Amino acid sequence: MMKSDTQNASALSRRSFLKSIGGSSVGLALGGGLGLAACTPKSSTQNFSGDYSAMAQQNYPFYGAHQAGIVTPAQRAIYFLVLDLHTQDIEEIKAVFKQWTESAAKLTRGENIQPYGDNPFVPPVDTGEADGLGAYGLTLTFGVSPAFLQKLGLSAHAPSEFVDLPLFPRDQIKPEFSGGDICIQSCADDPQTAFHAVRQLVRQARSSVTMKWSQSGFNAFDHSQHTPRNLFGFKDGTANQETLKNADQHVWVNTPNWLAGGSYLVVRKIQTHLETWDRTSLKGQEETFGRIRHSGAPMGAQAEFDHADIQSKDANGNPVIPDNSHMGLAKKTGLQILRRSFSFSSGIDLTTGQFDAGLLFISFQKSPAQFIALQSAFGRMDRMNEYITHTGSGLFACFGGVQEGAYIGQALLENQRTG
Ligand code: HEM
Repeated sequence: MMKSDTQNASALSRRSFLKSIGGSSVGLALGGGLGLAACTPKSSTQNFSGDYSAMAQQNYPFYGAHQAGIVTPAQRAIYFLVLDLHTQDIEEIKAVFKQWTESAAKLTRGENIQPYGDNPFVPPVDTGEADGLGAYGLTLTFGVSPAFLQKLGLSAHAPSEFVDLPLFPRDQIKPEFSGGDICIQSCADDPQTAFHAVRQLVRQARSSVTMKWSQSGFNAFDHSQHTPRNLFGFKDGTANQETLKNADQHVWVNTPNWLAGGSYLVVRKIQTHLETWDRTSLKGQEETFGRIRHSGAPMGAQAEFDHADIQSKDANGNPVIPDNSHMGLAKKTGLQILRRSFSFSSGIDLTTGQFDAGLLFISFQKSPAQFIALQSAFGRMDRMNEYITHTGSGLFACFGGVQEGAYIGQALLENQRTG
């Protein structure tokens, strides 16, 4: 008897399917015509050797000392989802987090969360859009908000700095892009893989959580560039290299114990006014950031990673890097954060008739105070303010890494090691 399609598929995991039809031929078939280039050491596809199969088979283990998706090199695509709790029963949430842990481990290996069954009269266990695809460097990073702790009666375990972000000057935060209890940051080198992963996790938890807001986004890497360019055409993420030299100081949290090895995630949905930007002179654009557009070098320097000297003056005694430039203001705080942002374009803004596009700004830091001080320094001063509006916001505590056998958030939910 011939096997049904469902039965054939059930015999193959996503990865084995990829292998069974030959990694390199998959690469040729998919890579042909799309013109994707080999990548540089900063991208997650650093070993990408010119075909898609290497990129498809890249995977980052879910289990480890830290959650993946924080210091992991940024991938090409993100699907960021914020969820609300639909229950205040902590046992129910423990069950969800256990299931998510198992599922995330499989998805990040490039597997579906369950093998297909044989019964064609029930819906398939997996939604199917990632069949035949690899892991594509998928990372799934979980965080919870101050409201999550409140709703589950865990507020006593919240560090004093873990409170909602204040309103900053010029903020136009919309309720539909803020708040929420849980965030899942899904990043991969393929947008469908990132979306598929989140979709499966939501299906599993349907009766315990509801979706609040989400945003997808993209990054692009080419042959020679270490750093992706944002929609203003500037390299974005250059200073991360410095932050990563001392992640213990700038990124990883030590206390309380339930958050040890984790990090605070700030997300800001930032609309960029591209039409206004496009009418700005190149000189004006470079003075906005304090960097040279083509090379990414600090003004007054030669190359992207050269030292940015905010003290140096030109022949007329004016600062070479303008005081009110984005970088000038950030440098003056002396603070460092890890930025892991993605551009987005979501159609047309119906009120202005312009692109609804911008930056899904995501940063990881040891303390929310780092972000608050930086954003306050930008305040009304930052030259970039003319070109942007913050419309979404969130603060989440991303747990430390999970060891095999344990589950995400266990130390908080079981209240064993709370400091
Ligand atoms: C649409 C919004 C934004 C855009 C387009 C943008 C773009 C940039 C660019 C092009 C750079 C210089 C290159 C680099 O080091 O990456 C930069 C640096 C930086 N940005 Fe932003 N940024 C945005 C929002 C923010 C926000 C909201 C924060 C935090 C509150 C922030 C914090 C920083 C920091 C800390 C640096 C590094 C400064 C240094 O030490 O050199 N940025 N940004």
